Amino acid sequence: MNKKIRIAIDGPAAAGKSTVAKIVAENLSFIYIDTGAMYRSLTLKAIENEVDTNNEEALADLLHATSIELKPGVNGQLVFVDGIDVTNKIRQAHVTNNVSNVSKHRLVREDMVKRQQAFAKDGAVVMDGRDIGTHVIPDAELKIFLLASVEERAVRRHNENISKGYTSDLAQLKKEIEQRDKLDTEREVAPLKKAEDAIIIDTTSLSIDDVVNKIMNLANERIELA
Ligand code: CDP
Ligand code: CDP
Repeated sequence: MNKKIRIAIDGPAAAGKSTVAKIVAENLSFIYIDTGAMYRSLTLKAIENEVDTNNEEALADLLHATSIELKPGVNGQLVFVDGIDVTNKIRQAHVTNNVSNVSKHRLVREDMVKRQQAFAKDGAVVMDGRDIGTHVIPDAELKIFLLASVEERAVRRHNENISKGYTSDLAQLKKEIEQRDKLDTEREVAPLKKAEDAIIIDTTSLSIDDVVNKIMNLANERIELA
């Protein structure tokens, strides 16, 4: 029996993708790949190197010369750019608010998708992002599209900020999430979109455990078939 299926989890910002993807990967002893962290890493490097986020060629050159590594850590995945741990830095607001302007470029996405496909080549992977089921692993054995109302998503991020001791403005967060979803959905290259064969899970009133259980049931079905 081939248990090495590939699970693609897509959806808008703060729908719970990375939280549930990480748990599902742990349960199955699969690797977890957070593709958003890769776009965030390039965005951080572009800001630090003062590269204009509208300059596609310059961003592509910068990415070409950049190593991005995702490694499992005790408290979740660690992200290294050129050997330096940027796990916390890439979650900062100035990165979040610029990332959609970096990820919209074709040359950037081509390079990222190649790297992501290399991570997925041996299977046994849970990958989350925006275009995993549509472009990165279009033949994934299981595709999930996670949804939640924008109000619920803003509250989740707000609570997360407060629990980390950060200041947080709920109305501002909601505006930023809406803006990022709009840019990600309306971009020309590989926009945020449900794959035709993806299963929608609306998590608005579901707990993390509820969502994990639903995905685990579907994954176990697919593993039996594989
Ligand atoms: O965790 P959150 O939902 O806030 O975002 P993320 O998954 O870290 O993704 C950050 C940004 O990277 C998204 O808003 C997209 O612009 C971009 N992204 C993408 O274009 N394609 C992906 N497969 C993953 C992320
Ligand atoms: O990766 P993505 O941006 O889609 O979302 P996330 O970072 O996994 O989740 C955003 C926040 O929502 C986290 O603090 C989760 O603990 C929380 N969450 C939740 O409250 N209920 C769920 N069903 C899923 C996530």
